[in-house]
Amino acid sequence: MRQSSLVVVANRLPIDDSVAPDGACEWRRSPGGLVSALHPLLRHTPATWVGWAGGTGPAPSLPDIGSVRMRTVPLSSEDFRDHYEGFANSTLWPLYHDAVEQPEYHRRWWEAYQRVNQRFAEATAEAAEQGAVVWIQDYHLQLVPGLLRELRPDLRIGFFLHVPFPPPELFMQLPRRAELLRGMLGADLIGFQRAQAAHNFAQLVAKVLELPATDRRVGVDDRVVRIGAFPVSIDTAEMAALAGRPDVAARAQRLRHDLGDPGHVILSVDRMDYTKGIEQRLKAYSELLASGHVKVRDTVLVQVAVPSRERVTQYQILRDRVEREVGRINGEFGRVGEPAIHYLTQPFDRAELAALYRVADVMAVTPLRDGMNLVAKEYVAARVDDTGALLLSEFAGAAAELPQAYLVNPHDLEGLKQGLLSALEADPADVTPRMRAMREHLHRNDIRAWARSYLSALDDGGSLLTHLAPTG
Ligand code: ADP
Ligand code: G6P
Repeated sequence: MRQSSLVVVANRLPIDDSVAPDGACEWRRSPGGLVSALHPLLRHTPATWVGWAGGTGPAPSLPDIGSVRMRTVPLSSEDFRDHYEGFANSTLWPLYHDAVEQPEYHRRWWEAYQRVNQRFAEATAEAAEQGAVVWIQDYHLQLVPGLLRELRPDLRIGFFLHVPFPPPELFMQLPRRAELLRGMLGADLIGFQRAQAAHNFAQLVAKVLELPATDRRVGVDDRVVRIGAFPVSIDTAEMAALAGRPDVAARAQRLRHDLGDPGHVILSVDRMDYTKGIEQRLKAYSELLASGHVKVRDTVLVQVAVPSRERVTQYQILRDRVEREVGRINGEFGRVGEPAIHYLTQPFDRAELAALYRVADVMAVTPLRDGMNLVAKEYVAARVDDTGALLLSEFAGAAAELPQAYLVNPHDLEGLKQGLLSALEADPADVTPRMRAMREHLHRNDIRAWARSYLSALDDGGSLLTHLAPTG
């Protein structure tokens, strides 16, 4: 098999096995931050992406996409249930997001997690050429760095966690906490979204494994593992270019007209996930309607909530509750042809998303906890005329970089209502400098800057960087 000098390993491949009937294969961006971040980066970089194609059973063989080779790792239906839905998304995901839903612990899930991580490590070992750089992504694969180092000590191994890394008092709940930490320490460099996460990790390593650790490095045997914050970003130039296209501007105008040419459009775009604060946001909006602070003819809320992890009970319960609440609010406050909330569960292409961002006077991004939240950054990038108010949760990683947003605590209902009103009523003289500052930040700190800073830390400024186009 052909091998690569750069191998990216992520549970999800950027495309799935639904190749078109004529055999043609397009990059299909599944909704989710990881694929959104890595897709623009790798499109023009010679690399192999090791990942899962989204189904169960034997691994389909996917064609290369541009310069990227797809190496699929199969999941059986037991792996899907116990690794993906189980340990990854019902143990680690809720635990890492402040336990906003109760994490579940089952020994069978841990066995599946080990088994699938082993399979990923073996596939990666086969795909990497001598001395290659391997970049492992996210919480599904925390054991891969250690397993891979055993198989291939010649590799340069990086690990990046897209989600928050929790404080010790939460992480200590995990029955297999020592193994997970040791797995990550197989890497040469461990990247987090925020410095606080690196700090949490260092504390845990010192406490659980009794290793010497600072917020920048950990000593393991005869090696030093570096740790640090590398906040992920978006292809700012691509989103700005899309949003500036005449057809997208025309589409935005049309959308506004179809929404009834209201005075204010509020937009939210989320995966249907209990970390996103959708229910709290709906409650705040409903109370503002009930008190008359917001009126349906003047203001509309567009809530895009694309279903996610649909067989997991907590996700099913959330979807039912959200849909019941949207129905109740529309029943109570809507009029014929004038719903209070436009609720959409479809995946959209990038141009349609850009048009939605352009039409939104207020973008409400209010997760209870989020590693970064790329939707917030996409909105800023799309506001090419420096208008628009971003209402942003203090608990999104993005808040550390975008202090000019209207920041709110989504757990505080009154604060959330007040934040929403402030954003709706904001004076353009206040909105414009805030948006301009955020756009400038994202122009400098785009996805290429992220990859450059991570890969140069991992590879000592090595040759891979020549494949990354300059920040545009
Ligand atoms: P998460 O990774 O938790 O889903 P992020 O906000 O970081 O949250 O990333 C979500 C990504 O998914 C963004 O790039 C966003 O544009 C994309 N996305 C969300 N909803 C949709 C949708 N309905 N259609 C297409 N893309 C979507
Ligand atoms: C978050 C995770 C990603 C994941 C994405 C979509 O962004 O950090 O690893 O790919 O959500 O979730 P899914 O379960 O559909 O892959």
